[in-house]
Amino acid sequence: MHAMWRKSFRFAGLALIVAPIAPAVPPGASAHAREELRAALQATPDTSNGARLFAVCAECHGPHAEGKASGWPPQIAGQHRRVIAKELVDYRAGERWYDPMERIAGIHVLGSTQEVADVAAYVARLAPSPDTTPGPQRSVAQGAGLYARRCQWCHGERGQGNDERLVPRVAGQQYEYLLRQLQDTLEARRPNMRTQHLRLIEKCSTQELMGLASYMSRLGPAANP
Ligand code: HEC
Ligand code: HEC
Repeated sequence: MHAMWRKSFRFAGLALIVAPIAPAVPPGASAHAREELRAALQATPDTSNGARLFAVCAECHGPHAEGKASGWPPQIAGQHRRVIAKELVDYRAGERWYDPMERIAGIHVLGSTQEVADVAAYVARLAPSPDTTPGPQRSVAQGAGLYARRCQWCHGERGQGNDERLVPRVAGQQYEYLLRQLQDTLEARRPNMRTQHLRLIEKCSTQELMGLASYMSRLGPAANP
């Protein structure tokens, strides 16, 4: 999974300049976080160092990075490399809040931007677990309809997300985690969720949020890109 390098050709006098376009980095982030994310996405990951670093992560996220049914913590196995890097940088920069993750993503554990890239690449290669805990069946049909209308165009028909566009994979994620993220977004506890995202869910009832989370949790790990 390499960062896509597109080339743009511009005329400057008679010289043809080939300038790589930096990967899309969200405009809302602080300059520092944007810069670090850009560097992490451009680094060449060392997955054996990533495997070594993962020992710390496994203590909470589980040996296969499958997370826990309570959603504390979530599954991270098979999440997109670029998304994992972004979330780590956001915790590190205080743009996503959860004390233990802010510490772990800090420089005492992940000593450099290169190490962020290394562990992200390693975790992204782990197969998503089929043993996550899905949400209740009763609101799934309602969730499916809402998902198709409002979420699918970004998160994908099968919940597969989009690495290049930094859209997380949501398929087969722990239900409780998904629901909590939606609630955190609504209650302004997840600053890195953009306003556009908030608009999509702000009029949802609790039942509808449960339906959405349940539907996504049931999309299943088969939805690997
Ligand atoms: C002390 C327990 C703990 C450890 C150790 C830990 N995590 Fe986490 N992690 C969590 C919890 C809990 C969350 C969810 C927090 C929230 O809701 O924001 C989380 C969230 C995340 C997320 C965001 C997931 C998403 O879908 O957005 C990523 C990525 C992540 N952790 C990666 C790592 C990596 C990589 C390591 C090892 C370097 C690690 N974590 C170590 C507990 C931990
Ligand atoms: C315009 C594109 C877009 C649309 C539409 C969209 N999302 Fe998202 N979603 C994102 C992006 C980008 C993120 C990652 C935010 C971040 O952490 O940087 C995200 C994050 C999430 C997360 C957190 C995932 C995690 O691993 O922590 C959940 C849950 C989620 N979206 C659910 C939904 C639902 C439900 C809908 C429909 C109501 C929806 N999204 C519509 C782009 C979108």
